Amino acid sequence: MAVNRTPLIAGNWKMNLDHLQSIAFVQKLAWALKDAKHDYASTEVAVFPPYTDLRSVQTLVTADKLDLRYGGQDLSQHDSGAYTGEISGAFLAALDCAYVIIGHSERRQYHAETDEIVASKTVAALRHGLVPVVCVGETAEDLEQHGPSAVPVAQLAVVLAALDADADIVVAYEPVWAIGSGQAATPEQAQQVCAALRASIAEHLGEAAAERTRILYGGSVKAANIAGFMAQRDIDGALVGGASLDVDGFASIARFRQHVGTV
Ligand code: 13P
Repeated sequence: MAVNRTPLIAGNWKMNLDHLQSIAFVQKLAWALKDAKHDYASTEVAVFPPYTDLRSVQTLVTADKLDLRYGGQDLSQHDSGAYTGEISGAFLAALDCAYVIIGHSERRQYHAETDEIVASKTVAALRHGLVPVVCVGETAEDLEQHGPSAVPVAQLAVVLAALDADADIVVAYEPVWAIGSGQAATPEQAQQVCAALRASIAEHLGEAAAERTRILYGGSVKAANIAGFMAQRDIDGALVGGASLDVDGFASIARFRQHVGTV
């Protein structure tokens, strides 16, 4: 974590919590963070509910003037038209989404999303004023065959090639073998790949973009291991799956500065 980048703790709910549950969850999360006197300016907190929850979350965030941010878990590369089941970035922007996750490994695996599709969705997100959270990561097999950073760096390169130097994106390094496995990467392993990703951003978009862009780690992050990741130079936050579904656990991850004693 570098001082010039605001950390982002992001909860990817995946296909969990319906719109009623989302209201109760967000209310409890906001209370937990308020009780803990959380400073949102020093650590941003965002949730990524299913599409059907977003209107409810927007209503609550607006009505209660919450500092929580939120976003979609995916979007279409198209803006409108005959694309049954797809969601336009325009619709997410109309619900005041700040972010949208793109290229999560579950989308790549179950919906055959290629690097080219991920690049085109990233451009679509930017077109609608959303900050894309671009996910990259290697499988256990990739790790064995190509080492730790080759695959994530190659995946990101395709996206970077489609962007202007001033593009505002977040990158999430999520090793597939660490997702939902309970076996997180070590902070040192994650740092090594995040440093390589930052170097690749510098190469494609320039030093300023590399210095500005936040890179998150994701994969079995929990309250007990977040501090180790946040102590790394090139890790600026976390994309949390399972542990983001527990209010106290997620609030504790957002309060990571307490764990490392740097508040
Ligand atoms: P877990 O935190 O459940 O491992 O999931 C990580 C993830 O996929 C977040 O996008």
